[in-house]
Amino acid sequence: MTRHLRSLLDLSSADFQRIVALAQLVKSNPGDYREALKHRSIALMFSKPSTRTRVSFEVGIGQLGAQALFLTAGGKLGLQVGRGESHHDTAKVLSRYVDALVVRTFGQDHVDELAEHGTIPIVNALTDAYHPCQALADVLTMREHFGDIRGRKLVFVGPGNNVTHSLMLAGPRAGFDVVCACPEDLPPDGKVLARAQDDAAAAGTSVTLCADPVEAVRDASVIYADTWVSMGQEDEAAALKKRLASYQVDERLMSAAAEDAVFFHCLPAHRGDEVSEAVIDGPRSLIFDEAENRLHAQKALLLLLLGAEPWI
Ligand code: CP
Ligand code: NVA
Repeated sequence: MTRHLRSLLDLSSADFQRIVALAQLVKSNPGDYREALKHRSIALMFSKPSTRTRVSFEVGIGQLGAQALFLTAGGKLGLQVGRGESHHDTAKVLSRYVDALVVRTFGQDHVDELAEHGTIPIVNALTDAYHPCQALADVLTMREHFGDIRGRKLVFVGPGNNVTHSLMLAGPRAGFDVVCACPEDLPPDGKVLARAQDDAAAAGTSVTLCADPVEAVRDASVIYADTWVSMGQEDEAAALKKRLASYQVDERLMSAAAEDAVFFHCLPAHRGDEVSEAVIDGPRSLIFDEAENRLHAQKALLLLLLGAEPWI
């Protein structure tokens, strides 16, 4: 059966832990994997801008000995899918050429359709609903920084979005608690919340909402911020910024968290909006470790999806 990463729902807790453990090995011994995907080709199909995801996948694929093809889904020189060719046919055609497809798009249904009709692994490189590769890198960063992360608390401060959803599903899989400090009128998706809470109950962790950021961050080890305006929401920017003005992660909020708390941000960041300059550029900020770890986590993911390393 072809395995995919459409969202973290595709991963059991054991799968999730396996990827993070392999990412640590890949990071410390990159030379061991130099030819692991030799003669393979992996396509990236992107409909939204990207710096970290695009570059870390392209470089990581090269470091594993495979060929990366970057394809834009729209524009004059983009794929035909940008002119209306179906995801059904695109999946079937690309499956004849390449060994995996990494997709950044708007609707989660695009990723699901590609996975349904293709015969190769499909990796979600961000949709409006999820950002699973980011969460894998974030957990790798938490592991590196804290060692054992079981029982620790991560607080996402801002609007419920794709990054929030993936962190909510990562918590139960990696053993930490998640609190969403989202305004009551900008909550995470109710279905994702229900599923994350079920997974948390089974794992002995928790996923909760708390609209008051100061109360939410009490005893927290990780304070996480993301842009207030996600890609595709540009028309709502002014209203979102106004609504979220009291949700900035600043030094006062950091001082309400645990003494050893660190700051995370998936980037790109907007200093003065979701985070103050003092916090993001301060000593507790691990943002560039997170960005680097995208590379290692995704290399591990591809090794497992393409069968170069055994899943448990
Ligand atoms: N964090 C993240 O996915 O960054 P990019 O949009 O630059 O890929
Ligand atoms: N929530 C953001 C994440 C960017 C990496 C967005 O979708 O634009």
